[in-house]
Amino acid sequence: MLVMSLFGLVTCAAPSGPSATPDPLATPVMPANPSLVDHGREVYYYHCMPCHGDRGQGLTDEWRAVWSDDHQNCWARGCHAGRSGDAGFPIPRKVPSVAGVPGALARFATPDDLFDYLRSTQPPQEPGRLGDAEYRALAAFLLRLNGRSTVAPLAGVHAILAAIALLAGILFAKRLLSGRAPRPGAGPTTSWASPEGGRGP
Ligand code: HEC
Repeated sequence: MLVMSLFGLVTCAAPSGPSATPDPLATPVMPANPSLVDHGREVYYYHCMPCHGDRGQGLTDEWRAVWSDDHQNCWARGCHAGRSGDAGFPIPRKVPSVAGVPGALARFATPDDLFDYLRSTQPPQEPGRLGDAEYRALAAFLLRLNGRSTVAPLAGVHAILAAIALLAGILFAKRLLSGRAPRPGAGPTTSWASPEGGRGP
């Protein structure tokens, strides 16, 4: 009996095929050695996802439908209606998508730009409530969510410049060395040179 009811439970809860998506409300699991992006994912889950969605889509109808019935109409619920003296805060009617649409976060050119914006404005009900480390992690996570690099483009430029400088150095050193090497016909040290090259008429 127990086995049967367990079986029923499992079949109900089991994903219905290979295309089933993971539960968007499931707590993120941290890997053994979490990266900045992993930290950001976790902070996002607790502080940003309710408004911005599990994929950064914003407070869409589709995203609200993920919540239990009594949490779906954020605006009608007393706790988010923003009554005076209420600890709750009004939920914005429009919450922009922060990923998954063309041009999302394009106005933030660097991770620092995004970090500054997040620290001074998010979450809107209490900007600056998180620590700098959290805002850095969030910036990295959001950029990664948009398929962008999590390091400043300048760092990339510096790396390229350093590579060019290294290459130039190697070429220069090679020239110096080859300049020093005895060349056929170049002077008295060329006793081993071929007759054609070494001894002119
Ligand atoms: C209460 C809902 C709410 C929460 C929670 C929230 N945001 Fe927002 N977020 C908004 C709204 C509303 C805006 C639009 C603000 C505006 O246009 O001035 C916004 C704007 C943004 C933007 C700018 C998007 C753009 O392209 O202009 C980013 C990035 C962002 N939020 C990230 C976050 C992060 C990271 C967190 C978690 C710390 C967070 N938000 C928490 C509601 C929320």
